[in-house]
Amino acid sequence: MPAADQATVVAEGVSKVFFSGGEPVWALEDFSLSLEPGSFTCIVGPSGCGKSTFLRILGGLEERTVGEVTMTGADHPVPAAFVFQEHGVFPWMTVLDNVAFGLRMTGVGKRERLATARDWLARVRLTGFADAYPHQLSGGMRQRLAIARAFATGSPVLLMDEPLGALDAQTRMLMQEELIALWEQERKTVLMVTHDIDEAIILSDRVIVMSGRPGTVREDITVPFERPRSFDIERSPDFGELRSRIWNLLRDDVRTAEETA
Ligand SMILES: Nc1ncnc2c1ncn2[C@@H]1O[C@H](COP(=O)(O)OP(=O)(O)O)[C@@H](O)[C@H]1O
Ligand SMILES: [Mg+2]
Repeated sequence: MPAADQATVVAEGVSKVFFSGGEPVWALEDFSLSLEPGSFTCIVGPSGCGKSTFLRILGGLEERTVGEVTMTGADHPVPAAFVFQEHGVFPWMTVLDNVAFGLRMTGVGKRERLATARDWLARVRLTGFADAYPHQLSGGMRQRLAIARAFATGSPVLLMDEPLGALDAQTRMLMQEELIALWEQERKTVLMVTHDIDEAIILSDRVIVMSGRPGTVREDITVPFERPRSFDIERSPDFGELRSRIWNLLRDDVRTAEETA
């Protein structure tokens, strides 16, 4: 039985068509995926294969053309929380207000919202920046803010679209550690898009490899490493083997996407 604040997410046969200059473009075709409550899943796929579209459909930001999406197990229906690569926080709000804003739909009073927001700022080491504005933060801090805001909403489902994609390599490693530590504590159901195969393996229980457009599930791979994990798994032969397997599944579609974009 999932805990009361955990959710199962199921997408069945999701397809999506966009019209571009009157011409139909199928972004997704028959995409099915079921996420266990409290699991961490990454999606990798070539550019333009519909990863963002799929997340937006799951989160209710985009209509699907065909298929079903259901979320069950949450004790109360809460929309999924998003973390985007950039521009995911409101530039005109302070750091504290950004986090508190995500809580305004929960029905709790302002004083309690601010207290919860302060707790979350402390958990992502931003207490000293509560009254600052996002442009005053480094890129890594802004993403910590976006992550804190998503967790703070209390939503059992977090949808993250390349949340660490704009960070330099070292900041990114640090953020991977911090993200997984928060997830270990909270056990939200996470679906994260990344273009970094290593990141997908390090973070997730499952890696969904998508085909080129129209995107569908090419392979659903269970990551065999136990938790808690350390970055030392990168040195194991199993890690290298998994990375090659995923890259072999992607290579042709990445080339095609690169040549047709
Ligand atoms: N609002 C839109 N209108 C028209 N085409 C779109 C729209 N959003 C996405 N697309 C197209 O759908 C395809 C998938 O896009 P996207 O989901 O952003 O891919 P990914 O995130 O995998 O790079 C692309 O061909 C993109 O151009
Ligand atoms: Mg995208």
